[in-house]
Amino acid sequence: MPMATISPPLPRLEAAPGPVGLVNGLRNLRAFQRDILGFLGHLARKYGDFVQFDFGPFRTYFANHPDLLHQILVEEAAKYYKTSLTKTLLQPFLGEGLLVNDGEPWKRQRKLIQPAFHAARVAAYADTMVAYAQRAVAEWQPGQMRWIDHDMMTLTLDIVIKTLFGEQLTPQEREAVGQAVDIGQKQVGDGFKTLFRMPDWVPTPARRRGEWATRVINDVIARFIAHYRQTRHDRGDLLAMMLAAVDEDGGMSDAQARDEAFTLIVAGHETTANTLTWAWYLLSQHPQAEAALHAELDRVLGRRAPTFADLPALTFTEAIIKETLRLYPAAYIVAREPQEDVCVGRYAVLRGRPILIAPYITHRDPRWFDEPNAFKPERWLGDLEKSLPKLAYLPFGGGPRICIGNAFAMMEARLILATVAQRFRLSLAPGQRVEVEPLVTLRPRHGMPMVVHVR
Ligand code: HEM
Repeated sequence: MPMATISPPLPRLEAAPGPVGLVNGLRNLRAFQRDILGFLGHLARKYGDFVQFDFGPFRTYFANHPDLLHQILVEEAAKYYKTSLTKTLLQPFLGEGLLVNDGEPWKRQRKLIQPAFHAARVAAYADTMVAYAQRAVAEWQPGQMRWIDHDMMTLTLDIVIKTLFGEQLTPQEREAVGQAVDIGQKQVGDGFKTLFRMPDWVPTPARRRGEWATRVINDVIARFIAHYRQTRHDRGDLLAMMLAAVDEDGGMSDAQARDEAFTLIVAGHETTANTLTWAWYLLSQHPQAEAALHAELDRVLGRRAPTFADLPALTFTEAIIKETLRLYPAAYIVAREPQEDVCVGRYAVLRGRPILIAPYITHRDPRWFDEPNAFKPERWLGDLEKSLPKLAYLPFGGGPRICIGNAFAMMEARLILATVAQRFRLSLAPGQRVEVEPLVTLRPRHGMPMVVHVR
């Protein structure tokens, strides 16, 4: 008689633990509005690796185990889109750019843009990054107080405009783009915390400011496009590549090229500037790490400018950036919405319910990092990265939608840190309060005024 085959038991699905229901929903909303990071940290500590909570009336999930993050972002990435809220808030600015696009249109655009971020291409940007960093500090004087957050923002903005678009901003454009990004940050950051929105046609002051901000950046992009169309010489930058695709049949529409340019200008400077700002702050608070950085720069570079070829030897410089991104990941939350009913681990989640992932919380989990709140760049010098579970460290996200500018940003941050720290030390302005402000990215709430010292 044939043996009966026993099929494996179906996985037993469970409801995730967490504070749900009307009263909790309102309480969660208030806690989220008051302190997003504190609230998510509390959920993780109290309920574990996969939590459900009501956000007002909306059921929301929070995943906080690397295996679950891997399942969502990598293994089953095709089942998930960006959340509806992300789209509602970001589309007025970014249109259908890479960051908010989904499905087949996203895949096509990512393929078209990816070549600008291939390793050889990115390496060619190194000299511009160093030259611009040198130019930015040329006027720095000992004893001068500088808003380092603003300085880093201007520097990384100039770099992304030059490397990807082959252009330069006028001082007025630079100032206006800075203000436009601030407005966008505030508006989108506030939008994440509110449940009820005025209908789109109501011209609230915030909306008018948002429209002004969009116009400022659109005007800059329109100028770049007009300039390219007049000269049309093959410059080989990303803008030229995108506009060549516009001109090809079935390539990219004009509107799509605008959306991609807008996305890359904003996503391509703000995050790296924040990372550098936090790095300068952390170094100012940790003299031993600062001394180790200086020793490395003196040994590897002496007084000559860093180049792409020096990067492998600048291991401590890299460790500082990695540790900064662990403690202050600029993209402190990413979110996904399943397009079908899914199981995350052993938990069922219905289609359309948002799932939050918080690198800020995962990066401070004592299961993966000892002394998780301490700034210890040296932890990255050994083989920590190899021994970590996949996605326990995810400052650039993971899976097919991993940050397209990952290598660009890591190179830029290291080269700027090295170029500036070769000549200068920065100390926090006396009496300055430092607090994180989680908007779209993780900014210092009161800015970062620092005093310049010549080394
Ligand atoms: C330290 C700097 C940076 C950090 C921490 C960062 C972080 C991230 C993260 C976490 C994502 C994934 C978001 C998600 O999965 O929902 C992302 C996506 C993205 N980033 Fe970055 N980023 C940085 C720098 C850059 C730079 C320099 C550029 C471009 C020059 C860039 C362009 C983008 C774009 C276009 C996407 C969307 C990619 C897609 O969905 O296909 N980022 N970034």
